[in-house]
Amino acid sequence: MSNKTALITGGTGGLGTAICKALCDRGDRVIACHLPSDTAPATAWQERLKEEGYDIAIIPGDVSSFTDTKRMIAEIEANYGWVDILVNCAGITRDKTLRKMEEKDWEDVVNVNLGSVFNVTRQVIEGMIERGFGRIVNISSVNGQRGQFGQTNYSAAKAGMHGFTMALAQESARKGVTVNSVSPGYIATSMTEAIPEDVRNQIVSGIPVGRMGDPEDIAHTIAFLTDEKSDYITGANIPVNGGLYMSF
Ligand code: CAA
Repeated sequence: MSNKTALITGGTGGLGTAICKALCDRGDRVIACHLPSDTAPATAWQERLKEEGYDIAIIPGDVSSFTDTKRMIAEIEANYGWVDILVNCAGITRDKTLRKMEEKDWEDVVNVNLGSVFNVTRQVIEGMIERGFGRIVNISSVNGQRGQFGQTNYSAAKAGMHGFTMALAQESARKGVTVNSVSPGYIATSMTEAIPEDVRNQIVSGIPVGRMGDPEDIAHTIAFLTDEKSDYITGANIPVNGGLYMSF
């Protein structure tokens, strides 16, 4: 049983929902952050999860904006207390070959996927260090490790997330705060559903395990990394990709 407070950005999404449930199951106080424009669907999501027995708080916040993130964290601290566990899970794709990519496709992906990691982590790191406890997990991607046709923006942002992970892990290692990345492969969510079917089938045929992953595969890994006992794992990247990309 944990009595920690966990903030999950992108908490109402495909991976986020599974992560919220896993941390809730072990007794964390869970807060899911969602886009301010998504308050109605987020409220419906919250009600649906309540019917399933999950009591999860929701908070609006545009994590690509430093100012709005600052406001969001102040609101969380006023209403729920400090954040012990942060899972940076907010992410988008704008897949296009570089020849067709517009400046906005680049900026949106970099600001939401990578900028958000700075914006949110910057607000909570000081408190974690002062209290001598923190768990931060950044959801990177197999495509940050190996690159992907049509994802120069996303691959760059996801690789950048792990650079951030390793640097902050060094800064906070002696302060009881661990910082790690998880790199999912192709997981069955709306993000992978958006890939053209023929392209998706071709990718899945190359996965050694022979199928796409489930959001629960990622949630399980997050629960492990954010456990109080996982205090000697920091600066690591855990691939959860069905063998799609193997490295050490
Ligand atoms: N490798 C090499 N060549 C490829 C290729 C590949 N993987 N895929 C396509 N091509 C070739 C085509 O054969 C075609 O060649 P010709 O011009 O010689 O005919 C050319 O590239 C097509 O180029 P276009 O710029 O016209 O590309 P497009 O508009 O048809 O589509 C795309 C490009 C939108 C990127 C499409 O390929 C696509 O959606 N790919 C999937 C990208 C992907 O895997 N995204 C992951 C999303 S999920 C996620 O991101 C979560 C996570 O963390 C894993």
